[in-house]
Formats: sequence, C-alpha cells, structure tokens
Amino acid sequence: MIQKCSLAKQWPAKTQLLVCGVFQDQAWNEFLTGMDEAGLKELQDEAQRLDFSGKTDQQLTWYSATNKLLVSLVGLGKVLDLSDDSLINLGAKASRQAKNLKSLLSSLTISKTITPADITDLTVGLHLGLYKFDHYKKQEDYKEVQQKWSILADNSNQNSKALNRGEILAEAIAKARDLVNEPGNILTPVALAEEALKLAKAKGLKAKILNLKDIQKENMNLFLAVASGSTVNPPTFIHLHYKPSKKSSRKVFLVGKGVTFDSGGLSLKPGASMMTMKMDMGGAAAVIAAIGAIAELKADIEVHAIVAATENMPDGASCRPGDIVIGRNGTSVEILNTDAEGRLTLGDALSYAVDQGATEIIDLATLTGACMVALGTQAAALYSDHKELRDGLLSAAQVSKEDLWHMPLSKNLKKSIKSPVADLKNIGGPYGGSITAALFLQHFVGEVPWAHLDIAGPAYSEEEQGYITKGGRGYGVRTLVEYICPQK
Ligand code: BES
Ligand code: MN
Ligand code: ZN
Repeated sequence: MIQKCSLAKQWPAKTQLLVCGVFQDQAWNEFLTGMDEAGLKELQDEAQRLDFSGKTDQQLTWYSATNKLLVSLVGLGKVLDLSDDSLINLGAKASRQAKNLKSLLSSLTISKTITPADITDLTVGLHLGLYKFDHYKKQEDYKEVQQKWSILADNSNQNSKALNRGEILAEAIAKARDLVNEPGNILTPVALAEEALKLAKAKGLKAKILNLKDIQKENMNLFLAVASGSTVNPPTFIHLHYKPSKKSSRKVFLVGKGVTFDSGGLSLKPGASMMTMKMDMGGAAAVIAAIGAIAELKADIEVHAIVAATENMPDGASCRPGDIVIGRNGTSVEILNTDAEGRLTLGDALSYAVDQGATEIIDLATLTGACMVALGTQAAALYSDHKELRDGLLSAAQVSKEDLWHMPLSKNLKKSIKSPVADLKNIGGPYGGSITAALFLQHFVGEVPWAHLDIAGPAYSEEEQGYITKGGRGYGVRTLVEYICPQK
C-alpha cells in the first residue's frame, strides 16, 4: 500500500530508505546532497570495491550511519537509453524494496536533472510495483506497511502537475488490471456494465447502458450472434461520455472489445487456450479506465467509450459455423468460425460509433492469436491509414513506454475475407490473420478516421517484468490518455 507521493527538495527527516537511480555515464555523488562528506566517501569506496558502475540492474544497498538511512543505488544504464521503461521500473523496484524492508518513509531520486516526464514515470512505477490482485485469498497475518514516498525534486507547479498525472495514470492502469484479472464468472457483461457505471459516477461521466432488448432494437445482429450462446449471462452495451467544459469539434470514440470470456463458442477452443480467456475484455478495460483518467485530467476534447460486452459460449442457442447474419450497418457476414467473435461484436460497436458522429475512432481489441505470432507478447499492432491519427498514437505510445508497432492494411488480403454467399466472411486465409481481422473491421467505420490496436499480446502477462505484474497489464490505458491529453 502506498499513499499519494509527494515532492521534496531534500529527503525528509526520519527517511528510512533512499533509492537513487544511477546512470552509468553520470556522476552520482552530487545528487546525494544532504549526505555528509565522510559517508559519501565511504559509499563511493564501497561502489568501487563492488564494481558498481550504474549498469542496468546493478544494485548496491548500503547503510549510512550518520544519516541513519539505507541508501540503495540502482543502475539505469546510459542516459541516452532513457526512452525505454527504465524509470517506471525503477519506481517499481523502489516500492518493492521498501515493502521488503518495511520502510514507512522513503525517498527516490535519480543521478540526472529530473524532468516532469521523469516524475510521472517514477510515480506510475512506485504505485504499480505494488499492484496485487489477491482479494480472493485468505488474508495473511502480517500487515503490509503503508508506504510514504517523496520524489526529490523542486516543488514547482509543473512538477506537481506531473506527479498528479502519475497518480491518475497509476490508478487508471490498476483499475484496468483489476477488470482483466476478475474471472469470467464474476465479471459478466452485466457486472462490467455496473463497474462502468460506478466509474462514471465517480469521475463525473455520462453513462448509458443498453440491455438485451435495447441491443435488439439497435439491430446489432452480429453482436447478438456472439451473445446467443450465452443463455445465462446476457450481453450489455456500454456507452460512457466525457464532455469538456468548452465545446469541442473533436469527438473521439474509444471502442474496446469486451468479451468477458471467450470459449470459442461452437468452434470451441482447446482447454489450454481457454485458460486465460477471461482477459478477452482487455480492450474494454483499457477504454473504460482511460476515459476515467481523461475526465480527471479535464481533457479539452469530447471523448466516448464504447463496449459491446458479451461472453462467447457454446449452447443449443449459439450461432453455428455457416450462419449468415446481417449487421447493424447492413453488411452481411458468413460466420465460418465462431471463435472469430471479436470482429463481430466490434463491427456493430464501430457502426454505432459512426452514427453517433465520431470524428475519430480508436478501437482496442485482444483480437487475434496471429498478432502474437507476428509481434510476440510485448507489442500491440497498430492499423491505420490515417497518417495524423497513426503518428499521434505512435508518439503517445512512445511517451507511455508502451510497445506499439505499425502494421499494414494490405489491399491484397482483402479478397480473403470475401464470401461467396455474403458480403464478408469472418475468417481469412492461412496468412496475415491479424491483418485480415483489421480489414474486416474496416468495413464498419465508413470514412471516419480510424485506428485499430490488436492488443492480444500485451493485454496480459504470464510473468512479472518490472512494473508489469502477472495477469492483466492495463496495456493501452496510458497511450490513450497521452493521445487525448498530452503531457504539456
Ligand atoms: N480472443 C481471441 C484472440 C486471442 C488469442 C487473444 C490469444 C489473446 C490471446 C480471438 O477471439 C480468437 O479466438 N481469434 C482466433 C481467430 C481465428 C479463429 C480466425 C484466433 O486468433 O485463433
Ligand atoms: Mn475467439
Ligand atoms: Zn476473443
């Protein structure tokens, strides 16, 4: 547990742990102002003796008797390599060390002039390093200490804004992780809608939830085809709306895939492939959490978050391979594989966004295993023919340290989703599976500038890696927030 972080020029009295990120190519002693000469000399000797030079992941912990605190030096590599996630990871390492040492009061600094962006990264890392999802486990006896952190920097207006931004981002990312980590039996489509309503209330957003009847009235037949096998847990359609105080000409629609559990439907997945399929609403989690942060940051653009939430289950009522269904925008689809359900739910959600007057649409979806074959588990694929939107998202992802890779909407693959009996079929050929899924979605956005992020890889992590914890990662939240309200 960690309280809101604060800024301090010097580590506060009674600080128990001082963590200093050290660059290989920067002297660090001058950044430890407040340490007495003799102590500093001793620490430098110790660093030399242990061959500590600030290389990535080197670490040295040393007790300063005169200052009565533990000093922990953490290697960060070279300053110029700082475009990666090393500062977020430093924050995570620091709060985990404080947890292990049961330090109540700790401070964090780095051996270079600290920028507002650095402060945001450190704050995000401090919080997310301690993220856990354990409320279903019996509580252990020992009580975790409530940590208090100071980041050593001027208390300027810009710096405190950056710190506050870090707090907001960390909260939103943790929220998205929670939603992904909740299992399919708990986080049903109705429960997801309730979570969205709760968040809307807390952040001052407008919210509209459509139930099964409303969805039928909207003619969302592709979405309904996926939901048809789910006779126990009905679908919901979630629409959150953030209105800026000054009228905006931009209306950005964030659309998230919200399959709360993907069994594959009648085209049933093998058991092992199903084990993580509670995460098939990672896109929904990202857009819901992001719009909450966007409201808190008082963005000056109008933003909507849309989720067509459903399970994908086998049942006598399920849609069958070979079924032909006409979607909300009139496109007929031959459903050949019920496990390619995401594009069906999204097709109707995208057409709804178009009719609501979207000026830009960005969808996030755990859409294809093929995307992980292409890019691995760390990067999401970005599809967009709209240069401005694409460049905006790529640079937002860079600031966010989220791995995003531009992929082509290859024209020559378009024929592979043509059906002899309908306008489209919901699967392509053996190659370019992530691309053909994106090309399918393109049929539902009309002329509206659109970007699609296939987040199948990074939505979920099988292991802890720095500030990323096992399970839901909250991938995409920060990139969306940075895109809509960039850090000034
Ligand atoms: N939700 C899956 C994609 C997925 C797989 C996400 C693994 C995260 C990890 C999606 O609904 C799916 O099943 N896609 C199929 C499409 C195929 C049938 C054309 C796939 O990728 O196998
Ligand atoms: Mn599927
Ligand atoms: Zn799916």
